[in-house]
Amino acid sequence: MHSFRYRDGHLYCEDVDLARVAEELGTPTYVYSAGTILDHYARLDTALHSLDHLICYAVKANSNRAILKLLADAGAGFDIVSGGELYRVLAAGGDPAKCTFAGVGKSREEIEYALVQRVYSFNVESEAELEQIDRIAGVKETRAPIALRVNPDVDPHTHEYISTGSRGNKFGIALDRIAAVYEQAAKMRNVEMVGIQMHIGSQIAEAKPFASAIGKVAPIVRELKSKYGIKFLSIGGGMGIVYRRALESGSGKWWRDHGGESFAFSVRDYADAIVPELCELHLRVLVEPGRFLVGNAGVLLTRVRFIKKSGGKKFAIVDAGMNDLIRPALYHSYHEIVPVCRASAATNASQNSITGTSKRAERIDIVGPVCESGDFFALDREMPELHEGDLLAIMSAGAYGLVMASNYNSRPLPAEALVRGNQLALIRKRQTWEDLVAEEVDPSL
Ligand code: LLP
Repeated sequence: MHSFRYRDGHLYCEDVDLARVAEELGTPTYVYSAGTILDHYARLDTALHSLDHLICYAVKANSNRAILKLLADAGAGFDIVSGGELYRVLAAGGDPAKCTFAGVGKSREEIEYALVQRVYSFNVESEAELEQIDRIAGVKETRAPIALRVNPDVDPHTHEYISTGSRGNKFGIALDRIAAVYEQAAKMRNVEMVGIQMHIGSQIAEAKPFASAIGKVAPIVRELKSKYGIKFLSIGGGMGIVYRRALESGSGKWWRDHGGESFAFSVRDYADAIVPELCELHLRVLVEPGRFLVGNAGVLLTRVRFIKKSGGKKFAIVDAGMNDLIRPALYHSYHEIVPVCRASAATNASQNSITGTSKRAERIDIVGPVCESGDFFALDREMPELHEGDLLAIMSAGAYGLVMASNYNSRPLPAEALVRGNQLALIRKRQTWEDLVAEEVDPSL
């Protein structure tokens, strides 16, 4: 359950008025709900209770230390893909012994760092990487715990950029090669085979592809368990969330009703589809959710700078840009956009839903200030009539938001804030213009 709701015409995150957040911290600002993240974590944890399991939060989705600390305190492990992510997890008080290190191109320094910190497992994506880890572990006179990432060749029916478990993409080792590569690993002196891993893609909207992938790898998992005594199977992340909602009037509920969940399918459906087969494998199960935990726990607050009419179209130019949230530009992904103050966004209009859909509703492009035509958040979107100065919330921005932000157009990165009950904490300061040049060095040519 997410915790963004209207009260007296204002959008609240838990018990904090988002208009107040914008007043205090300015815009654009990401705001996250601690309660929502913990609720999502607890639901998944409960749904998997019959398995020996570990939830390894995919740090790449949102790596702010405050979020990592929240999850570490709740008992989570972490799925990391770089030395930088491991550094963050440690800085947040996370346990390296609950970290799995994935990624197709780990550097020597990253492998050394992870070995020294004693991560739970390296998820190995190729034979070349396996040899490299064996070499480095040998030099360090240690044994590296490894799990090979298997590519089960399952179509997850998602955007092509975030589909990872089908033949022909760069991830994992093909199912028909996996036994041979484990045999190779068995001959290496400095690696210890502790598990097997897969991840078929992201924003997967149905439970079936997860079940199919597990069904496909189950025979090899059994074989590896009896041959080498592997201890875990990681089934990756990828559970989809609801980005597009049917809005209900008056009730304060505005998520499409999937049994009150903000997920594309219910946690129960997910568990029902995968737990029985996993139980029969009798080993530890790891899951690596990112978006599922944080996606619907965050919004990006932005203010309308100008209204512009041109070429028969109307634009709301807001102060956030594609550099702050790149998902619409990169994947044409849909994010719900709602006014923070309903009254101001649709004055005199009879509202019949949360978007303020009313007699005054209009179609408008919501675009950023960046010098690219791809810099948009919504095209031809039905919105209540917008005015200069209106505050908007771009919903479902908790995952792959700030982590993918850049300084393009020399725009400082936005601030981030965390809400817990009626408390608001700044968890990342807004960058300044000075910050933009701070790392640059005057050339002495
Ligand atoms: N495990 C592995 C090995 C992954 O590669 C990923 C995501 C995850 C777990 C977490 O997936 P999630 O549960 O968040 O779907 N930037 C894209 C998403 C890229 C996902 C990359 N890998 C977006 O904004 O949709």
